[in-house]
Amino acid sequence: MTNLGAGVRCVTGPAAAAAYVQEARLQRGVARRLATLWRCTMANRLPPGPRLDLGGGAGALALALASKGCPPLEVVDCSVSLLRLATGLQVRPWNLERRLPVAEPALLASNFALHWLSQPLVSLDQWCQALRSGGQLLLAVPTSGSFTSWRQAAHQAAVPWTGLPLPSAQQLQEVLATHLQLHHCSLLQRRQGWPSALAFFRHLKRSDLTGGASGRLGPGELRRLDRCWPRGLQGRVTVEWEVLMVVGEKSRGVVVPP
Ligand SMILES: C[S@@+](CC[C@H](N)C(=O)[O-])C[C@H]1O[C@@H](n2cnc3c(N)ncnc32)[C@H](O)[C@@H]1O
Repeated sequence: MTNLGAGVRCVTGPAAAAAYVQEARLQRGVARRLATLWRCTMANRLPPGPRLDLGGGAGALALALASKGCPPLEVVDCSVSLLRLATGLQVRPWNLERRLPVAEPALLASNFALHWLSQPLVSLDQWCQALRSGGQLLLAVPTSGSFTSWRQAAHQAAVPWTGLPLPSAQQLQEVLATHLQLHHCSLLQRRQGWPSALAFFRHLKRSDLTGGASGRLGPGELRRLDRCWPRGLQGRVTVEWEVLMVVGEKSRGVVVPP
Protein backbone atom coordinates (compact mmCIF):
# COMPACT_ATOMS: atom_id res chain seq x y z
CA MET A 1 0.00 0.00 0.00
CA THR A 2 1.19 3.52 -0.73
CA ASN A 3 1.95 5.29 2.52
CA LEU A 4 -0.55 8.12 2.70
CA GLY A 5 0.04 9.06 6.32
CA ALA A 6 -0.44 7.81 9.86
CA GLY A 7 -3.75 6.46 11.11
CA VAL A 8 -5.07 5.44 7.66
CA ARG A 9 -7.20 2.30 7.85
CA CYS A 10 -7.40 1.00 4.31
CA VAL A 11 -7.67 -2.17 2.31
CA THR A 12 -4.04 -3.12 1.85
CA GLY A 13 -3.40 -5.42 -1.10
CA PRO A 14 -4.86 -6.45 -4.48
CA ALA A 15 -6.42 -9.63 -3.05
CA ALA A 16 -8.18 -7.74 -0.25
CA ALA A 17 -9.37 -5.11 -2.74
CA ALA A 18 -10.80 -7.76 -5.09
CA ALA A 19 -12.49 -9.49 -2.12
CA TYR A 20 -14.07 -6.19 -1.07
CA VAL A 21 -15.55 -5.61 -4.51
CA GLN A 22 -17.02 -9.13 -4.52
CA GLU A 23 -18.51 -8.84 -1.03
CA ALA A 24 -19.84 -5.28 -1.17
CA ARG A 25 -23.35 -6.02 -2.44
CA LEU A 26 -25.04 -3.89 0.22
CA GLN A 27 -22.78 -0.94 -0.61
CA ARG A 28 -23.48 -1.24 -4.36
CA GLY A 29 -27.24 -1.40 -3.75
CA VAL A 30 -27.13 1.70 -1.55
CA ALA A 31 -24.96 3.53 -4.13
CA ARG A 32 -27.56 2.81 -6.83
CA ARG A 33 -30.32 4.08 -4.53
CA LEU A 34 -28.41 7.28 -3.76
CA ALA A 35 -27.80 7.88 -7.47
CA THR A 36 -31.53 7.45 -8.17
CA LEU A 37 -32.36 9.94 -5.40
CA TRP A 38 -29.93 12.41 -6.97
CA ARG A 39 -31.52 11.91 -10.41
CA CYS A 40 -34.97 12.62 -8.96
CA THR A 41 -34.01 15.70 -6.94
CA MET A 42 -30.94 17.66 -8.03
CA ALA A 43 -29.72 16.32 -11.38
CA ASN A 44 -30.83 19.38 -13.34
CA ARG A 45 -29.11 21.92 -11.05
CA LEU A 46 -25.51 20.70 -10.72
CA PRO A 47 -23.16 23.70 -10.79
CA PRO A 48 -19.84 23.54 -12.66
CA GLY A 49 -16.75 22.58 -10.64
CA PRO A 50 -14.89 19.58 -9.21
CA ARG A 51 -16.91 16.45 -8.45
CA LEU A 52 -15.51 13.85 -6.03
CA ASP A 53 -16.48 10.38 -4.80
CA LEU A 54 -14.91 10.49 -1.31
CA GLY A 55 -13.63 7.16 0.01
CA GLY A 56 -14.89 5.90 -3.32
CA GLY A 57 -12.89 2.66 -3.42
CA ALA A 58 -13.49 0.96 -6.77
CA GLY A 59 -15.97 3.70 -7.70
CA ALA A 60 -19.38 2.10 -6.97
CA LEU A 61 -21.07 5.47 -6.40
CA ALA A 62 -19.24 7.28 -9.23
CA LEU A 63 -20.40 4.53 -11.62
CA ALA A 64 -23.97 4.55 -10.30
CA LEU A 65 -24.13 8.33 -10.77
CA ALA A 66 -22.69 8.08 -14.29
CA SER A 67 -25.46 5.63 -15.15
CA LYS A 68 -27.97 8.32 -14.09
CA GLY A 69 -26.44 10.92 -16.38
CA CYS A 70 -24.10 12.64 -13.93
CA PRO A 71 -20.86 14.03 -15.41
CA PRO A 72 -17.77 12.04 -14.26
CA LEU A 73 -16.60 12.13 -10.64
CA GLU A 74 -12.99 11.74 -9.53
CA VAL A 75 -12.63 8.81 -7.12
CA VAL A 76 -10.63 9.78 -4.02
CA ASP A 77 -9.39 7.01 -1.74
CA CYS A 78 -6.35 6.03 0.34
CA SER A 79 -6.35 2.48 -1.04
CA VAL A 80 -4.30 2.33 -4.23
CA SER A 81 -5.38 -1.30 -4.70
CA LEU A 82 -9.05 -0.33 -4.74
CA LEU A 83 -8.42 2.65 -7.01
CA ARG A 84 -6.75 0.28 -9.52
CA LEU A 85 -10.12 -1.48 -9.77
CA ALA A 86 -11.95 1.75 -10.59
CA THR A 87 -11.66 1.02 -14.30
CA GLY A 88 -12.36 3.93 -16.63
CA LEU A 89 -12.67 6.45 -13.79
CA GLN A 90 -10.36 9.29 -12.87
CA VAL A 91 -8.78 8.51 -9.50
CA ARG A 92 -6.71 10.27 -6.85
CA PRO A 93 -4.87 8.49 -3.98
CA TRP A 94 -5.57 10.68 -0.95
CA ASN A 95 -5.89 10.44 2.82
CA LEU A 96 -9.21 12.04 3.77
CA GLU A 97 -7.99 12.67 7.30
CA ARG A 98 -6.35 15.65 5.61
CA ARG A 99 -8.23 18.52 3.97
CA LEU A 100 -10.04 17.86 0.69
CA PRO A 101 -7.81 17.73 -2.42
CA VAL A 102 -9.75 20.48 -4.26
CA ALA A 103 -11.24 23.87 -3.41
CA GLU A 104 -14.96 24.69 -3.78
CA PRO A 105 -16.22 21.34 -5.07
CA ALA A 106 -19.54 21.30 -6.94
CA LEU A 107 -20.43 17.75 -5.89
CA LEU A 108 -19.21 15.69 -2.94
CA ALA A 109 -20.53 12.14 -2.93
CA SER A 110 -19.63 9.47 -0.39
CA ASN A 111 -20.94 5.97 0.16
CA PHE A 112 -20.05 3.87 3.25
CA ALA A 113 -16.81 5.76 3.89
CA LEU A 114 -17.34 8.67 6.33
CA HIS A 115 -17.53 6.33 9.37
CA TRP A 116 -13.98 5.14 8.60
CA LEU A 117 -12.54 8.56 9.38
CA SER A 118 -11.34 9.28 12.92
CA GLN A 119 -13.79 12.18 13.43
CA PRO A 120 -16.76 11.72 11.08
CA LEU A 121 -18.66 14.76 12.37
CA VAL A 122 -15.65 17.05 11.95
CA SER A 123 -14.96 15.69 8.45
CA LEU A 124 -18.61 16.09 7.45
CA ASP A 125 -18.57 19.66 8.70
CA GLN A 126 -15.44 20.34 6.61
CA TRP A 127 -16.98 18.76 3.52
CA CYS A 128 -20.13 20.90 3.83
CA GLN A 129 -18.11 24.06 4.41
CA ALA A 130 -15.90 23.35 1.40
CA LEU A 131 -18.83 23.03 -1.04
CA ARG A 132 -19.24 25.94 -3.38
CA SER A 133 -22.48 27.90 -3.42
CA GLY A 134 -25.16 25.65 -4.94
CA GLY A 135 -22.83 22.66 -4.47
CA GLN A 136 -24.35 19.26 -3.77
CA LEU A 137 -23.71 16.58 -1.13
CA LEU A 138 -24.72 12.95 -1.57
CA LEU A 139 -24.06 10.83 1.48
CA ALA A 140 -24.75 7.29 2.65
CA VAL A 141 -23.23 6.30 5.97
CA PRO A 142 -24.02 3.49 8.41
CA THR A 143 -25.07 4.85 11.79
CA SER A 144 -25.09 3.83 15.44
CA GLY A 145 -28.54 2.20 15.19
CA SER A 146 -26.91 -0.63 13.20
CA PHE A 147 -26.05 -4.09 14.61
CA THR A 148 -28.63 -4.16 17.43
CA SER A 149 -28.70 -7.99 17.53
CA TRP A 150 -24.90 -8.15 17.61
CA ARG A 151 -24.77 -5.62 20.49
CA GLN A 152 -27.49 -7.53 22.37
CA ALA A 153 -25.64 -10.83 21.88
CA ALA A 154 -22.33 -9.30 23.01
CA HIS A 155 -24.01 -7.96 26.14
CA GLN A 156 -25.70 -11.28 26.97
CA ALA A 157 -22.58 -13.32 26.23
CA ALA A 158 -20.44 -10.86 28.25
CA VAL A 159 -17.96 -10.48 25.38
CA PRO A 160 -16.59 -7.14 24.16
CA TRP A 161 -18.29 -5.28 21.34
CA THR A 162 -15.71 -5.41 18.53
CA GLY A 163 -17.47 -3.42 15.81
CA LEU A 164 -16.36 -0.12 14.34
CA PRO A 165 -17.84 2.83 16.29
CA LEU A 166 -20.53 4.37 14.09
CA PRO A 167 -21.69 8.00 14.19
CA SER A 168 -25.17 8.87 15.45
CA ALA A 169 -27.73 9.81 12.78
CA GLN A 170 -28.99 12.69 14.92
CA GLN A 171 -25.54 14.24 15.29
CA LEU A 172 -24.86 13.87 11.57
CA GLN A 173 -28.18 15.53 10.76
CA GLU A 174 -27.37 18.43 13.10
CA VAL A 175 -24.14 19.09 11.17
CA LEU A 176 -25.92 18.79 7.82
CA ALA A 177 -28.74 21.14 8.84
CA THR A 178 -26.20 23.84 9.74
CA HIS A 179 -24.93 24.05 6.17
CA LEU A 180 -27.35 22.53 3.70
CA GLN A 181 -30.86 22.50 2.41
CA LEU A 182 -31.81 18.83 2.55
CA HIS A 183 -33.78 17.53 -0.44
CA HIS A 184 -33.76 14.04 1.01
CA CYS A 185 -32.79 12.71 4.42
CA SER A 186 -33.87 9.27 5.57
CA LEU A 187 -32.74 6.27 7.56
CA LEU A 188 -32.61 3.14 5.44
CA GLN A 189 -33.06 -0.07 7.42
CA ARG A 190 -31.59 -3.30 6.06
CA ARG A 191 -31.67 -6.74 7.67
CA GLN A 192 -29.40 -9.61 6.66
CA GLY A 193 -29.27 -13.25 7.78
CA TRP A 194 -25.98 -15.15 8.13
CA PRO A 195 -25.52 -18.86 8.90
CA SER A 196 -23.48 -18.01 12.03
CA ALA A 197 -21.71 -15.16 13.81
CA LEU A 198 -18.43 -16.47 12.38
CA ALA A 199 -19.79 -16.39 8.81
CA PHE A 200 -20.84 -12.77 9.32
CA PHE A 201 -17.45 -11.82 10.78
CA ARG A 202 -15.66 -13.51 7.85
CA HIS A 203 -17.78 -11.41 5.49
CA LEU A 204 -16.87 -8.26 7.46
CA LYS A 205 -13.22 -9.16 7.28
CA ARG A 206 -13.33 -9.78 3.52
CA SER A 207 -15.23 -6.54 2.97
CA ASP A 208 -12.85 -4.89 5.46
CA LEU A 209 -15.62 -2.97 7.11
CA THR A 210 -14.41 -3.32 10.68
CA GLY A 211 -10.84 -4.42 10.21
CA GLY A 212 -11.87 -7.98 11.07
CA ALA A 213 -14.19 -7.91 14.07
CA SER A 214 -13.76 -11.58 14.94
CA GLY A 215 -9.97 -11.32 15.18
CA ARG A 216 -10.16 -9.87 18.66
CA LEU A 217 -12.42 -12.57 20.14
CA GLY A 218 -11.15 -15.94 21.33
CA PRO A 219 -12.85 -19.16 20.10
CA GLY A 220 -14.76 -19.54 23.40
CA GLU A 221 -16.01 -15.95 23.24
CA LEU A 222 -17.10 -16.42 19.63
CA ARG A 223 -19.06 -19.59 20.55
CA ARG A 224 -20.80 -17.75 23.43
CA LEU A 225 -21.59 -14.79 21.17
CA ASP A 226 -23.01 -17.12 18.50
CA ARG A 227 -25.24 -18.90 21.07
CA CYS A 228 -26.66 -15.58 22.36
CA TRP A 229 -27.20 -14.01 18.90
CA PRO A 230 -30.93 -13.62 18.04
CA ARG A 231 -31.93 -15.96 15.21
CA GLY A 232 -34.26 -15.20 12.30
CA LEU A 233 -35.47 -17.37 9.43
CA GLN A 234 -33.90 -20.87 9.25
CA GLY A 235 -31.92 -20.16 12.42
CA ARG A 236 -29.71 -17.54 10.74
CA VAL A 237 -28.11 -14.82 12.87
CA THR A 238 -29.70 -11.44 12.24
CA VAL A 239 -27.64 -8.39 11.28
CA GLU A 240 -29.28 -4.96 11.10
CA TRP A 241 -27.94 -1.99 9.15
CA GLU A 242 -29.18 1.56 9.64
CA VAL A 243 -27.89 3.82 6.87
CA LEU A 244 -28.35 7.59 6.75
CA MET A 245 -29.13 8.66 3.16
CA VAL A 246 -28.77 12.35 2.37
CA VAL A 247 -29.17 14.52 -0.71
CA GLY A 248 -28.40 18.13 0.15
CA GLU A 249 -27.48 21.41 -1.45
CA LYS A 250 -25.55 24.42 -0.21
CA SER A 251 -27.68 27.51 -0.48
CA ARG A 252 -26.77 29.76 -3.38
CA GLY A 253 -25.28 33.02 -2.14
CA VAL A 254 -27.17 36.19 -2.98
CA VAL A 255 -25.27 38.14 -5.63
CA VAL A 256 -25.14 41.80 -4.61
CA PRO A 257 -24.85 44.08 -7.67
CA PRO A 258 -21.78 46.36 -7.61
C1 LIG B 1 -16.57 0.37 2.90
S1 LIG B 1 -15.47 1.05 1.73
C2 LIG B 1 -16.60 1.92 0.65
C3 LIG B 1 -16.04 2.07 -0.73
C4 LIG B 1 -17.00 2.66 -1.77
N1 LIG B 1 -17.44 3.99 -1.40
C5 LIG B 1 -18.17 1.75 -2.02
O1 LIG B 1 -19.30 2.21 -1.92
O2 LIG B 1 -17.95 0.58 -2.35
C6 LIG B 1 -14.68 2.36 2.63
C7 LIG B 1 -13.67 3.11 1.78
O3 LIG B 1 -13.13 4.19 2.52
C8 LIG B 1 -11.75 4.28 2.23
N2 LIG B 1 -11.09 5.01 3.31
C9 LIG B 1 -11.04 4.68 4.62
N3 LIG B 1 -10.29 5.58 5.30
C10 LIG B 1 -9.88 6.51 4.38
C11 LIG B 1 -9.07 7.68 4.45
N4 LIG B 1 -8.55 8.09 5.61
N5 LIG B 1 -8.83 8.36 3.31
C12 LIG B 1 -9.36 7.96 2.13
N6 LIG B 1 -10.12 6.86 2.01
C13 LIG B 1 -10.39 6.14 3.11
C14 LIG B 1 -11.32 2.81 2.12
O4 LIG B 1 -10.10 2.65 1.43
C15 LIG B 1 -12.49 2.22 1.36
O5 LIG B 1 -12.33 2.32 -0.03
